Amino acid sequence: MTLTIEEKPAERRVTTLANLNPNQQAAIRRIPAEADAVVRPIEATRPNAIFTGQERFDAEQARIFRRFPVPVTLSALLPEPGMVVAHEGYGLPLLISRTKSGEIKAFINACQHKGSKLLEDCEVRKAGRVTCPYHAWTYTTDGKLIGVARNDAFANFDKTERNLKELPAREWGGVIYVQLDGAPDPDWSQLSDQIADDFTSLGIPDSHVYGRKTFDLKANWKAVLEPFLEGYHVQRLHAASIGDLFQDAPNIVDLFGANIRQVSGRIGYVPQMLDEDPGQNVHKLVTHAYTAFPNCVVVTSQYYTSVMILMPREVDRTVVEYFMLTPGPATTEKAAEVFKRSFELIINVFGGEDFRAAEISQAGLAAGVPSQTIYCGLEANIVHYYEALEALL
Ligand code: FES
Ligand SMILES: [Fe+2]
Repeated sequence: MTLTIEEKPAERRVTTLANLNPNQQAAIRRIPAEADAVVRPIEATRPNAIFTGQERFDAEQARIFRRFPVPVTLSALLPEPGMVVAHEGYGLPLLISRTKSGEIKAFINACQHKGSKLLEDCEVRKAGRVTCPYHAWTYTTDGKLIGVARNDAFANFDKTERNLKELPAREWGGVIYVQLDGAPDPDWSQLSDQIADDFTSLGIPDSHVYGRKTFDLKANWKAVLEPFLEGYHVQRLHAASIGDLFQDAPNIVDLFGANIRQVSGRIGYVPQMLDEDPGQNVHKLVTHAYTAFPNCVVVTSQYYTSVMILMPREVDRTVVEYFMLTPGPATTEKAAEVFKRSFELIINVFGGEDFRAAEISQAGLAAGVPSQTIYCGLEANIVHYYEALEALL
């Protein structure tokens, strides 16, 4: 059996226009009919060095990725108290937990005895406590050292001084943000209340993580991000997959600081379609694409939502964690089959097309060509995002 990317599972919950918040609804109401879309030509470039320069990379690390809290993973990955997961996307060993009281906490994934990783892989566990594989020191999910083997062999030893090293963390619209350098009192001001509200309307905090996959890409993180900020490539790069579902028209864009919401009409969209059936799945008509500050991408599809966190590791290396979110686990065979096929298809589209485009572009940029990238009116949103980013650098 071959399913298309749009085939619906037998059981599902859909997002209607009325499920969205008023600000989201207003943005959707601004999408013109496909025939009325106007592209405004622009003149804009960026120097090659923003993708290839070590100095620029270091500045981004210092002034963005270590200065502000950054997205690490999703609330939906740890839905229940007592769940823990290790995370290494940023190159820093992290342990993220949901405590008994349901709070999210982040720690350095290192034992306070001699530094051993507590969890060695990035599988989610529901444990309630974490035991070090080396000498079996045991910690609670809120980081307290509660068990020391042969405690009697340590002189003048105070367990309370050996709790896990905690980093400030917060859930924001279903995304878990962590202050990676551990500085107390992080500056949360870059996170947008509107984005958190939008993500909540889209059901992101309460979704089910159907699947996740990590990619290690030979490309600058902004080269990986760019295709998620523009529609120019969609009918071209994705010609063989999803290109014919989307218009060759500018997206409707709203900026909330350095957070971006884009909405766009599907092929053949006219605004009257919105009011034809109040119970209809709004994502049959429009697509949302967000960039939550600074590197978390959300793209809606009809029956699932994609979330990606693009973690810069080196000037030409980015680790991406992809999450496919569904309203719940598949409860029928048909739904299971559709989710499975959808996952394969979206991994092929993002991994095999968008990420591949980033890697082959990086190869040319690394050879110095072009000396300046150039952006058209269908890519204006990239320029908006870079301006917001540059204001912080
Ligand atoms: S390093 Fe963890 S118990 Fe020894
Ligand atoms: Fe794309």
